[in-house]
Amino acid sequence: MSAPIIEIRDVSKTYAASEARPALADLSLEVAAGEALAVLGPSGSGKSTLLNLIAGLDRPSRGTVRVAGTAVHALGEAALAGYRRERIGMVFQFFNLLDDLTVEDNVLIPAQLAGVPKAEARERANGLLTRLGIVRHARDYPGTLSGGQRQRVAVARALMNNPPLLLADEPTGALDSASAAEVRELLGALVAEGRTLVLVTHDTGLAAQCATRVIELVDGRLTRDVRNSPVAVAR
Ligand SMILES: Nc1ncnc2c1ncn2[C@@H]1O[C@H](COP(=O)(O)OP(=O)(O)O)[C@@H](O)[C@H]1O
Ligand SMILES: [Mg+2]
Repeated sequence: MSAPIIEIRDVSKTYAASEARPALADLSLEVAAGEALAVLGPSGSGKSTLLNLIAGLDRPSRGTVRVAGTAVHALGEAALAGYRRERIGMVFQFFNLLDDLTVEDNVLIPAQLAGVPKAEARERANGLLTRLGIVRHARDYPGTLSGGQRQRVAVARALMNNPPLLLADEPTGALDSASAAEVRELLGALVAEGRTLVLVTHDTGLAAQCATRVIELVDGRLTRDVRNSPVAVAR
């Protein structure tokens, strides 16, 4: 197997507001490139905290987080911003789209931040929107789209800089069942083509469809780590 893309060693995270109980306690975890890891566990078990540490949105209290060789825990603010821009694509439960920008302009943001020339960025955005079946909504505003369409826009934005790692926090958590099915299929297809994915979810159907491995957190500790068969190519 190839070198792990994520290496988490003895990580603990305690928030200042909740001194007594750590959100993560002595967690170690390696994720190989091409794996699709589903993180399950009850509310408050540390799932979002884990994702945020990998994304460089927060820092561990102790321990180390390495992603593709980068010591994320040790980066300064400017380097962290660059890390997030180039290495991480992130999808959230409530989409986090900018409602006063068009779909296309939302998807263009990561490329603009990375200084990609406008024409090239537009071409890339167009390709992604076409692939994700939403190009006809390029000039529309997110507020006019269904939840499933909005989440596809968020996925397109996450893929804009072609990051080696895709992170998703409850990506079907706010969707009706038809939209959830769309997003499951999309994420399954991305995994089938070899994208590395870390997925926090309560949606066991999503885990079953997309994940090659499932871990469970309880009270900030790893209580289960199971490898599934590889995800079949979704066609
Ligand atoms: N910014 C924060 N400040 C203080 N406590 C937090 C913060 N974020 C999360 N926590 C606490 O850390 C624990 C784990 O939270 P979280 O990682 O959000 O869990 P999950 O995503 O599994 O629901 C919870 O007890 C939560 O209240
Ligand atoms: Mg959470």
